[in-house]
Amino acid sequence: MPRKKFSAPRPFPQLEAELAPNDLDLAIGLLYQWGISSSQTRRRRSGMQLSAELPKGFRFEAFRKAVLRWERARGGKKVFRKLRRRLIRDRSWVRKYQRALRPFVLLPASVPGGPWIVDPRGKVPRRRDPKTLYIEAGLAFGTGTHTTTRLAAEYLAEAMENSETGSVLDLGCGTGILAMVARKLGSKRVVAADNDPEALAVAKENFRRNGVRGIALHGGLEEVSGRFPLIVSNIGLNVLVELQSALVRKLAPGGRLILTGLLYKDRRALRRAYRGLKLLRSENRRGWSIFFLRKA
Ligand SMILES: C[S@@+](CC[C@H](N)C(=O)[O-])C[C@H]1O[C@@H](n2cnc3c(N)ncnc32)[C@H](O)[C@@H]1O
Repeated sequence: MPRKKFSAPRPFPQLEAELAPNDLDLAIGLLYQWGISSSQTRRRRSGMQLSAELPKGFRFEAFRKAVLRWERARGGKKVFRKLRRRLIRDRSWVRKYQRALRPFVLLPASVPGGPWIVDPRGKVPRRRDPKTLYIEAGLAFGTGTHTTTRLAAEYLAEAMENSETGSVLDLGCGTGILAMVARKLGSKRVVAADNDPEALAVAKENFRRNGVRGIALHGGLEEVSGRFPLIVSNIGLNVLVELQSALVRKLAPGGRLILTGLLYKDRRALRRAYRGLKLLRSENRRGWSIFFLRKA
């Protein structure tokens, strides 16, 4: 009988650093701008230990220099301590990391429809709790720990509470967390789109593991048809500016738009790009901003 061939798992490069807990959002924001949308953190006595698998062709030395420039521009305070690149040969740490995670509150009871819990351990109990979202951590952006995801979920829940929202578009859905919140809060039609095929696969798997049906998935805004009374997008300044006219066209008359993913320093640029829409509310939290806008 021919012997089965086993190939050893390929080693992969990983970025590692230590951070102060308060700097976590800033650091994740910078990683995101460099195309790293998924990272893991662990609490250590010395602070937070951050690790992230590096995408193919990632220019680590250029990144290190950019970090130094960025820290200097912020007054010289070190954000990424012990920054290094390491080759990982054993993927079992991913499972160990997932086992060490605990469920957490995504939306507190004070938010309409709350409380909502996220269980990031990658396992689904036989009896699912209807107010828990089971999301596997570490595969795509959107486990619910990031400030912008929480902000977007809060605004989404409030927007849905205050008026009938038959359909919702989640642009840049990542794990599909916001689309699932919209669907679970009662939206009849939910469309989720992401241009990263891996994010789409993760979102599809999350909808299945949560037993959430009726969310259409697309590879980008151009594939989405129809207009929406409510759109949420946690995607970052550059993409939001680039997609401004296409996104506004997707809003129904009187439709509302929740935009986040942008750093506080970029809030004016975002407002300028969307000046044709009425500002209902905006908020800044832990260095991040969110905008709630309405089309005339
Ligand atoms: C910051 S993550 C947000 C994930 C999730 N919605 C959340 O709130 O946690 C942004 C997502 O937008 C996606 N994205 C970036 N540019 C995009 C584009 N032009 N069209 C669609 N999705 C895009 C990325 O692949 C990523 O999954």
